[in-house]
Amino acid sequence: MSAPREPLGVIGVGWVGLVTAVAFADLGHEVWCLDIDRVKLDALACGKSQIHEADLEATLVRTLPRLHFTDDPADLFGAARVAFVCVDTPPTASGDADLSRVEEVVAALPPSAAGALLVMKSTVPVGTGARLRHVLDARGLDHVGYASNPEFLREGSALADFRAPDRVVIGASEPADAERLSALYAPIADCIVVTDVPSAEMIKLASNAFLATKISFINEIANVCEEVGASVEEVARGMGLDSRIGQSFLKAGIGFGGSCFPKDVAALKQLAGNSGYHFQLLASVIEVNSMQKRRVVTKLQRHLGSLRGRRVAIWGMAFKPDTNDMREASSIVLAARLVAEGATVTAYDPAVDVALAARYLPPEVQIAASALEAADGADAVVIVTEWPQFRELVGSLRARMATPLLIDGRNLIDPAAAQAAGLAYEGIGRIPLPARIAAGLPAGS
Ligand code: UGA
Repeated sequence: MSAPREPLGVIGVGWVGLVTAVAFADLGHEVWCLDIDRVKLDALACGKSQIHEADLEATLVRTLPRLHFTDDPADLFGAARVAFVCVDTPPTASGDADLSRVEEVVAALPPSAAGALLVMKSTVPVGTGARLRHVLDARGLDHVGYASNPEFLREGSALADFRAPDRVVIGASEPADAERLSALYAPIADCIVVTDVPSAEMIKLASNAFLATKISFINEIANVCEEVGASVEEVARGMGLDSRIGQSFLKAGIGFGGSCFPKDVAALKQLAGNSGYHFQLLASVIEVNSMQKRRVVTKLQRHLGSLRGRRVAIWGMAFKPDTNDMREASSIVLAARLVAEGATVTAYDPAVDVALAARYLPPEVQIAASALEAADGADAVVIVTEWPQFRELVGSLRARMATPLLIDGRNLIDPAAAQAAGLAYEGIGRIPLPARIAAGLPAGS
């Protein structure tokens, strides 16, 4: 029989914390989950999660016998010697990360935390580990270990990403701490990068900033493609086959959003700025992303003239498909711009309800019960989130719209299908269909 696995603690059971807790419980660990939100803990203890994530609730239910929920740090540290810190670090007005919740965790450490290892999973500025080490030492907690272990989970596939990571990054100043953490990940990780704490912290920020840079880069290529008559999808395919470049994150569109890229790019730029370095490239990545969300308005104006009094339907409000997360979604900027231009805006997203939409969109935006209802009487439909089911609806659009114009912000639709359905169609960085046919190119990209 194999030896029982080490009991673990997870501090903060939001998205990262819950995925971490159930994934380790699934590997056979007893996991103590600590949170300040009693209502959330009670729901989790009944196998109910508010978080939309593939396989999460099923895994939660399956692993419930090994999960323990508490709002008392003494319970966690009474049972576990390794505690993953997964509290949120939202951006402040200056673009710095707000570390107050991390600091509260340190302030609330009970005497039973002596000898325990705190493992930072929350995304924090480089230097946080060193700062917290001083705080711990100043509180006489020099026997509490500290390590950095950033997460690289994508929303929508977080559990799958956790179970099959490209790499696990561990930053530790004590080799024994690194070994202890490496052993926890040994069953799932082929590649474990052990490094110092500041480098681990930087790997997380630099990875997200690089991926965001790739997106802004391909979006600018798409914009130039539109000017010179090239197709960004052909260009991305041709570029991506170079193994030094790779195919992923070269999908041009209406800009990146979500709770991570915008925040982490801003945090890295701010971090550099705080130490006197102007991170010119990231300033451009942010600016390009902001412009990309607005370019759609120009495209609409080119077809429709002034948008005052025009009806525009937004298809998709979430920052990407398979989630209801609207944080920093491109739909927010677009809806606000359209309202400011005097358009009547209707929006639909299969995963976003009226109450959630109302938290992010201007009050003038009407929320429709279906994509086709949103398109009723519209002068244009704009695809903002690439929900695959939108493809099936293209054939029904013409009959319902006042002006049959489809602006595809995610290059979701086959332009030939849109044209066959009687729609004027424009994607991002795509050659207009007649020009493609004249050039003898396939219609589909
Ligand atoms: C991202 C990273 O991919 C994860 O590795 C990281 O752990 C996570 O942030 C985090 O820091 O917690 P996520 O925000 O879930 O994950 O979303 P992605 O799937 O990476 O997409 C982010 C945005 O980029 C979306 O708005 C998406 O539409 C856009 N995107 C992505 C593009 O516009 N083009 C692409 O080629 C890829």
